[in-house]
Amino acid sequence: MQPVMSRRAREVQPFRAMVFGEQADRMIADGIDVVKLSLGEPDFGAPPAVRDAMREQYDGRALPYTAAMGLPELRRAIADFYQERHGLSIDPKRIVITSGGSAALLLATALTVDSGDEVLIADPSYPCNRELVKSFEGTVVDVPTSAATRFHLTPELVAQYHTDRTKAVMITSPSNPTGTTIDFNVLKSVCDYAREHGMWRIVDETYLDLADREPDGSEVKSVLECDDGAIVCNSFSKFFGMTGWRLGWAVMPDDDDVLKAVDDLATNYYLCAHTPTQHAALACFTKESLDECERRRQELLTRRRIVVDGLKRIGLPVEVEPNGAFYAYFNISSTGLDAWTFCERALAEAHVALTPGRDFGAATADTHVRLSYAASQEALKEGLDRLGRWLPTL
Ligand SMILES: Cc1ncc(COP(=O)(O)O)c(C=O)c1O
Repeated sequence: MQPVMSRRAREVQPFRAMVFGEQADRMIADGIDVVKLSLGEPDFGAPPAVRDAMREQYDGRALPYTAAMGLPELRRAIADFYQERHGLSIDPKRIVITSGGSAALLLATALTVDSGDEVLIADPSYPCNRELVKSFEGTVVDVPTSAATRFHLTPELVAQYHTDRTKAVMITSPSNPTGTTIDFNVLKSVCDYAREHGMWRIVDETYLDLADREPDGSEVKSVLECDDGAIVCNSFSKFFGMTGWRLGWAVMPDDDDVLKAVDDLATNYYLCAHTPTQHAALACFTKESLDECERRRQELLTRRRIVVDGLKRIGLPVEVEPNGAFYAYFNISSTGLDAWTFCERALAEAHVALTPGRDFGAATADTHVRLSYAASQEALKEGLDRLGRWLPTL
């Protein structure tokens, strides 16, 4: 007799972007020319110097575990990166190297959430965070947001949803699926409110270094500029194009008890991040690699223009222009279809793979669709042309 799986295993939600992506792959394998705009994976790959450095790692050396908190040189290199890019002085002891941003979020959740604790999350937002909170028996409080708040939390919303069980706010900026940043003054007010009420602030900055300027023209800033006690999660996957390399980091508050707990959690969960990747990732911080990543960021800005203008042209304008990541989140309710049917039919009839809003929460589940512009300019133009020809047939 098959033993019963845990409740969490029985109830975990699939990541539907993957489901649509897999369906698109099956169609491609059947010889159908599908334009895939469903996955959040940059098409650039790691900078060349990092690939070279990785080759050197496989010269027969032993490759032992590193410390659970990560390779000291890499922690220092990340601290220097904060100094150079964001003007922030971060003690390397606060940086923990993780297996992707995913494991940074896992550590952050494990560190902060107990059974029955409530965590406030903007709806729509990155789906995996909900599953992490549920894994630690926390309660996700989805706070419906809209274009009016750039699809982010505000201090007013946090105050409205705050109860005596609220333990943390989780913010992703720039956001997946909307590609919008939280206005820095709003971020500061949310963090001030949360701190004053004894809540953790967990801020996912996975897309921070891909961001463009704020709508008012100012630089996009890390939460650490306004809240040094926030827990920041970040990744080598997006800005450095290293999705499959599985490397990320978190910046933890400067508190010895917290740092010891993080060390112990990391040791118990995975001992350390992949040793060769940690060594190779040092090459991310050379001038050559950073220049390469900056060129790619500029390329993404060009692609964003193509997508934002293209969606407007075909009658599906984005409500809030993205200024980070590589996503556009647009309202399809004018088509008379719900977002799931829209995506199913776009794939079957126009051969364009997109992601329905249902992945990202309930608030925009039926009305919005995510387009990922981590695809070539040609693919984006073709995808938009196909959608433009298909829409009048609905
Ligand atoms: C907002 C956000 N956070 C975290 C991740 C996790 O990525 P990784 O584990 O590859 O760093 C993703 C991946 O798409 C994401 O979109």
